[in-house]
Amino acid sequence: MLGKMAGTKASDFDFDVCMPTYDYVFQPDVLRNKVAFITGGGSGICFTIAEVFMRHKCQTVIASRNLQRVQVAAKKLEEATGVQCLALQLDVRKPQDVMRGVDAAVDHFGQIDILVNGAAGNFLVPASGLSYNGFKTVMEIDTMGTYNTSKAVYDKYMSKHGGVIINISATLAYRGQLFQLHAAAAKAAVDSMTKTLCNEWGPQGIRVVGIAPGPIADTEGMRRLGGGAMGKQGLDQLAQNLPLQRVGTKRDIAECAVFVASPAASYISGHTMVVDGGSWMTDDNNLEAMGKRFMASAKL
Ligand code: NAP
Ligand code: COA
Repeated sequence: MLGKMAGTKASDFDFDVCMPTYDYVFQPDVLRNKVAFITGGGSGICFTIAEVFMRHKCQTVIASRNLQRVQVAAKKLEEATGVQCLALQLDVRKPQDVMRGVDAAVDHFGQIDILVNGAAGNFLVPASGLSYNGFKTVMEIDTMGTYNTSKAVYDKYMSKHGGVIINISATLAYRGQLFQLHAAAAKAAVDSMTKTLCNEWGPQGIRVVGIAPGPIADTEGMRRLGGGAMGKQGLDQLAQNLPLQRVGTKRDIAECAVFVASPAASYISGHTMVVDGGSWMTDDNNLEAMGKRFMASAKL
């Protein structure tokens, strides 16, 4: 089940940590009695979404390919928040896996009120160097994974009970981000699904909302794509080019997700919220700068 990662130790997935302290912006129990199903919740941005949801009393399911990763993460999340988190192994590319995971979540908690489609794969590569399978792989994880999980959760729970679907997207397609043909196309398709599913599933009480993060510190995405591979110099240079002069935090995205999931956003659907401090407009998108990022990321 662990594929290429078989044999790795739990400590290999010990990177993400919960916040040592947390000051509330929203009411601390705003998500009480809710259950969220979060793909990719074992690491990065979606780990912190799970944490902040749980701090607001939402029970969570975190699911990804590597069972060890999600089990280690669930333990940390439960210890930090005192709220229950179920860890599940699944590959969002495989409908049978996803259906099995959704069944397990409904069996365990009896409900799924919020779905976060966060599982994704990405790497920097010029289109000329992208293999057919590389393109297909990212489309399958990001786009088909979002479809597979949304459909399973709709069929098995939300069609009768309503809910909120949050699609984690990206701004890559807005300016044709260099060396990101695959992920930009995949996330543009996700944004399209956000609109269509808003129209089709709205009558069943389902809101569908996208969140498109900018460059987010301390994430695999940043390490691979955003200059993280160039070390402190790369990160400083990136921040200098951004309107708010800083990269984002995982908490920036998680607080937006709490807002979207809460009743405060009850009339928001079909829209992808850009949470990037304006960075998509000013971040590098030229061959020289992106060439340097690509060369650095190739050494990872
Ligand atoms: P990350 O930690 O690498 O998160 C990706 C997660 O997806 C991992 O937990 C991975 O776990 C899971 N995953 C990958 N393939 C999967 C599959 N086939 N089935 C199930 N799970 C799978 O990356 P991140 O940087 O935090 O990114 C999180 C989300 O934010 C992604 O949607 C990404 O596109 C988006 N985003 C990030 C940034 C950024 O700056 N970081 C910017 C814009 C958008 P396993 O390996 O265990 O499967
Ligand atoms: N540059 C170019 N092509 C790459 C690549 C890179 N850095 N990494 C993978 N590929 C290609 C592979 O060569 C392969 O194509 P091929 O068969 O033509 O050689 C194809 O992509 C699939 O690679 P594989 O490693 O078999 O896929 P996987 O299903 O095991 O893993 C990935 C999926 C490639 C997306 C992997 O990077 C991953 O698991 N990512 C999850 C974490 C992540 O990306 N986080 C950031 C989110 S923003």
